[in-house]
Amino acid sequence: MFSCVYKSCCYQIKSNNFLRKQLILFSTTMASESIVDLKDKRVPYKSRNELLLEKDIVKEPIKLFETWFQEASNTPGIIEPNAMFIATSSKSGIPSGRMVLMKSFGKNGFVFFTNYNSRKGIELAENPNASLAFYWEPLKRSVRIEGHVEKTSEKESDDYFQSRPYASKIGALASDQSKPCAGRDQMSKITEELKQKYSETDHVPRPKHWGGYVVTPKVIEFWQGQSDRVHDRIVFTKPAPGESLGQYAHEGEDGWRYQRLFP
Ligand SMILES: Cc1cc2nc3c(=O)[nH]c(=O)nc-3n(C[C@H](O)[C@H](O)[C@H](O)COP(=O)(O)O)c2cc1C
Repeated sequence: MFSCVYKSCCYQIKSNNFLRKQLILFSTTMASESIVDLKDKRVPYKSRNELLLEKDIVKEPIKLFETWFQEASNTPGIIEPNAMFIATSSKSGIPSGRMVLMKSFGKNGFVFFTNYNSRKGIELAENPNASLAFYWEPLKRSVRIEGHVEKTSEKESDDYFQSRPYASKIGALASDQSKPCAGRDQMSKITEELKQKYSETDHVPRPKHWGGYVVTPKVIEFWQGQSDRVHDRIVFTKPAPGESLGQYAHEGEDGWRYQRLFP
């Protein structure tokens, strides 16, 4: 039966030039719409005289991050060096990722602010682990961080919320982040109502469902791209107590160890 249908199809196509042309046109359009071929898109990265070598780096990853972050901040073309990708995962292991803005960092970790009822907030309540990634394209550098996540203190969330501009405070109050919305009109209505309730000079209270998270790093990897694609990767990890030093690992500072990974 299959061959019968196949044969009749072939016949129809052969016997109808117009249809054949349409089919060719359709398949060409489909190909260009469904596949954007970027295989030839290659940009040069760092040259051989700009290697990331173990001997040159500070042996504590937060300090190294600070150096790289400063360089990114001073690089024209990097407007938001604190923009980072954060991946979270549901209890069942389905990952999700999005961009957020890092608002501070230090030995305790990397802080960002959001809505605790958002998708990421719900996932972090189920599974308090996250992975972060920065990419500073003009520098051909990336940093990856993995760690445990906790909410920041109420005070830290309050302090940051109150430091935000009025419109941002209203925006945080107005947004039921990650939930379905009827349209922009609905958002405008909610925003207008809140502006009626709180004037620019009023104290706008932080909603309890809005605040910060701190990602305490267990793994921090520094990546620097090389033009020949033999990239540099140096990863810092916090070993468990008593864990032996791996074959290629070196003792770093402050309980960290570091080692090179194949790119
Ligand atoms: C550059 C950039 C910065 C962002 N910063 C934040 C942020 O700091 N906090 C936040 O909640 N969302 C931020 N967003 C929006 C998030 O990417 C995302 O849309 C939102 O948090 C909802 O994500 P979720 O539904 O996965 O929870 C930012 C988006 C971009 C592109």
